[in-house]
Amino acid sequence: MRIVLGVTGGIAGYKSALLLRLMTEAGHQVDVVPTRAALNFVGQATWEALSGRPVRTETFEAVETVNHVRLGREADLVVVAPATADSLARTAAGLAPDLLGNVLLTATCPILLVPAMHTEMWLNPATVANVTTLRSRGLTILDPDDGRLTGQDSGPGRFPEAERIWAEAQRLIGSGAVPSTGPPSTGPLSGRTVVVTAGGTREALDPVRYLGNRSSGKQGVAVAEAALAAGATVRFIAGAMSVDPPAGAEVLRVESTQELHDAVFDCAPGTDALVMAAAVADFRPATYAEAKIKKAADGSNPVIQLERTPDILADVVKARAVSAPPMPSVIVGFGAETGDEQTSVLEFGAAKLARKGCEMLVVNQVGRHRVFGQDTTDVTMLFADGREPVGAGGTKTEVAVAIVDELSGLLARMGE
Ligand code: CTP
Repeated sequence: MRIVLGVTGGIAGYKSALLLRLMTEAGHQVDVVPTRAALNFVGQATWEALSGRPVRTETFEAVETVNHVRLGREADLVVVAPATADSLARTAAGLAPDLLGNVLLTATCPILLVPAMHTEMWLNPATVANVTTLRSRGLTILDPDDGRLTGQDSGPGRFPEAERIWAEAQRLIGSGAVPSTGPPSTGPLSGRTVVVTAGGTREALDPVRYLGNRSSGKQGVAVAEAALAAGATVRFIAGAMSVDPPAGAEVLRVESTQELHDAVFDCAPGTDALVMAAAVADFRPATYAEAKIKKAADGSNPVIQLERTPDILADVVKARAVSAPPMPSVIVGFGAETGDEQTSVLEFGAAKLARKGCEMLVVNQVGRHRVFGQDTTDVTMLFADGREPVGAGGTKTEVAVAIVDELSGLLARMGE
């Protein structure tokens, strides 16, 4: 299940860390969405470390993922704990000054609000009216406990124990009102999240032209489908493709290498595996012409200066040492090789595996009509742990199943 845990600006926020623990230990994917005020009590790093997911507060962060709509739409349950008097008022009024406000407006799943505040605030007619309004709209509002509050005072308004909140949340999840969109709960990758990149990047030269490549995206789609079938949650980052993205995956569209780089750094932290099946441009035009490049009157040909793009795979491997939440422990690269007179395809592949520092490299031989756009392929999988290379051939689906088998084995061995 996908749960959004909203946290608003009350001191009881520290107790929500325990609630988050109960949710993640039950195997749920939890996106924590604190308000700005909430970060005064418990910081972003704590939420990211405990959820293993990126944490955002503002509507205008990660705009390319349309986060402000996506989180609410995809959630199976939204819990706001603690919910301050102010947040109840904003929710009742339908205001969306931040990411959490947007989530609450877009969610169609059950919503559980857990108020915590001083007794005067809880009993204030404005709060009472807001709670009545919210309940009449179908939101579940847990009555606070009666007991010791933050200062010397005590009375109704105390934040309930995490176990009580979680019991109520589970009741809502089990109520049948929750759409089940998650991956199968069995399979070698169940409970795992895998990021797959696919398709080709396009590097703009001017508003109408770009440098691109022949990648169809078929192999990446097949890998994503095999990972979904193995029970994984899949985030699919799509460059230019001639096929549809896989049903059941969270899909993000990108165009250039830089956009792909940013999307990977946004999506990969906290996940289990990254499969870089995208055909990434190694070079891009050094300058972008704002206006369409015209034919010169003197008949001279334009000269296009190229520069290197970032090496995404190598950058993710490098970031592993410092990233929190951590980068995936299994990173799979693809090596499209042609070989030459002196060096075989596999020798180039072995050198690339060592250079990139990933756990596994899927090597295939490419030519003008070979691999790109075709439905069948032959690959050799090379491993950084020194195991013998493994070959696989057939349809891209069959090859994808073999890749996901090896990836699952690598993850399982790491957990031993
Ligand atoms: N890759 C990447 N960023 C780049 C280029 C490639 O992340 N700028 C990834 C690809 O997605 C693939 C792997 O690196 O998984 C190897 O891609 P390939 O183009 O074969 O290797 P290069 O590093 O570009 O090496 P070369 O072209 O020199 O063989």
